[in-house]
Amino acid sequence: MKKIAVLTSGGDSPGMNAAIRAVVRKGIYHGLEVYGVYNGYHGLVNGNITKLELGSVGDIIQRGGTILRSARLPEFAQVEVQKKALEQLNKFGIEGLIVIGGDGSYRGANALTKLGFPCIGVPGTIDNDIVGTEITIGFDTALNTAINAIDKIRDTASSHERTFIVEVMGRDAGDIALYSGLAGGAETILIPEEDESIDDIMERLNRGKLRGKKHSIIVVAEGVMSGVELAEKLREKIDSDVRVSVLGHIQRGGTPTASDRVLASRLGARAVELLLEGKAGRAVGIVENKIVDNAFSDIIDQPHYIDRGIIQLSKELSI
Ligand code: F6P
Repeated sequence: MKKIAVLTSGGDSPGMNAAIRAVVRKGIYHGLEVYGVYNGYHGLVNGNITKLELGSVGDIIQRGGTILRSARLPEFAQVEVQKKALEQLNKFGIEGLIVIGGDGSYRGANALTKLGFPCIGVPGTIDNDIVGTEITIGFDTALNTAINAIDKIRDTASSHERTFIVEVMGRDAGDIALYSGLAGGAETILIPEEDESIDDIMERLNRGKLRGKKHSIIVVAEGVMSGVELAEKLREKIDSDVRVSVLGHIQRGGTPTASDRVLASRLGARAVELLLEGKAGRAVGIVENKIVDNAFSDIIDQPHYIDRGIIQLSKELSI
């Protein structure tokens, strides 16, 4: 293998740049030519591909976002579109592709692999919802962003004796809500993986009130319902002042934490090694601090694992 390419796809995540840097530097270290595909699968189909040098990825390890930019291309599910991508890859003489992204991005990489083109996936998403890895690139940074916001909201919630609802991202997964809620000391955490009724929430709020609590933080994952919707439901039942804060896309930006940079560097480099070993159709991940790899077919569309122990702990600590 002489030429490989790398792209970022789906929602960006802090640390993607560190992963791109690792792919480029590791590839060049092993004598490969490394190409960057701009704008995800969209750029792949349209041939928006450029050769990257060592210097192309200088000064990016600390930057959020992705220098290769990202996009979502639902049409990539169609075989004719995938074939256009193959034409471009062949035109540039590229023999292997590394896709940094989430589940949807893996589906595209799996399709190309099935058409005979070797692809390797690197888990880059703030949602932490990829099977086969305990943590995804960007999750730790997003978590810290959320915790920072919750800490600030707690100050004003306490001054005004209010109930605050903080809506966080995560799509269908509750990891950002669960871990930021636990680390931010939220009184209630609502995640899609666990059913909780409005009455349960009320009971919690009332219990807090009885022991003199004047304010309360509820973290809700967007996959459960919107913060505004939850506020409407709560306002029907309590007379406390309820406010909503939607953290939104600030969770996707910012300087990656040390943890995300190290993870991205390790995973990006391993992805290159897999291509060099002649592997295809696999995604790298981390389990018990060891870098692993799994077949796309074993991880795509599999139920997301959430740590029930952490759910239980968060409940016990917020009584
Ligand atoms: O997958 C990452 C994510 O940020 C989700 O948490 C969120 O639901 C979604 O992307 C938002 O996507 P977009 O930026 O396209 O609105």
